[in-house]
Amino acid sequence: MKYWTLAAIFLVLAVPAVSSAESSVRKGQRLFAGCLKKVDDKETLKTGQFVCKGKRDPAPFGGNGRACGDCHMPGDNFGISADRIASLKSDHPLFFRGLDEDQKLLRNHGLVHVIVPGQIDEFRQSPKLVHLQEQCDKRGNCDSLGLLGDRVTNLCAFSIQAVSNHMSKSPRRIAEKDFRVPTEKECKWLVAYMVSDLVADQDERNKKR
Ligand code: HEC
Repeated sequence: MKYWTLAAIFLVLAVPAVSSAESSVRKGQRLFAGCLKKVDDKETLKTGQFVCKGKRDPAPFGGNGRACGDCHMPGDNFGISADRIASLKSDHPLFFRGLDEDQKLLRNHGLVHVIVPGQIDEFRQSPKLVHLQEQCDKRGNCDSLGLLGDRVTNLCAFSIQAVSNHMSKSPRRIAEKDFRVPTEKECKWLVAYMVSDLVADQDERNKKR
């Protein structure tokens, strides 16, 4: 086979593979938002809530239907405001009823049941995440995490706890039954996303840039 034929075959096969490759940050965004395909950036920016291109994953991480982005909303600096909560329909995944949430506290004050077995059992607000880029290194090791700074300081470990804590199908929170533990790769993608400009630039202070 002539050289140019080989080169042509290479181009036909390799170029689409490279150009369609999704970056780690985008993969993390998709997981965070609970989108099966991609996040619709335009609609997400417009509404302040994640909108998927195509279908939403009905059970992110095999869980109760909640995605990270249901409590950490792009339009609220990746936290969630009282106004936003008031605007959500009662069948929104945030209000999943099979867990040990206090629905009144959740609806009226945005307080979420935070459980770290043997350590924490209280109701806390979803903090914003726009500061993570400043507070954590690229590998996801942070100065401190959690509203009281009393949580694991590694973003991957934190994300695994978040899945178990908030996305479980039952209050027993049994791994691989009530939810699926994020793989090492998925964890990397989530971390890449949370410390990326896509999250940091959502900060209101940066809006005019
Ligand atoms: C049901 C709502 C809810 C869901 C779903 C949720 N979170 Fe959170 N998140 C919270 C709450 C509440 C806290 C505060 C926890 C604390 O203070 O201990 C928090 C805290 C965090 C923090 C710490 C931020 C900081 O600066 O201290 C990170 C990081 C985070 N969540 C990431 C995630 C990721 C990743 C997912 C998905 C795998 C996720 N969260 C899903 C409610 C939620």
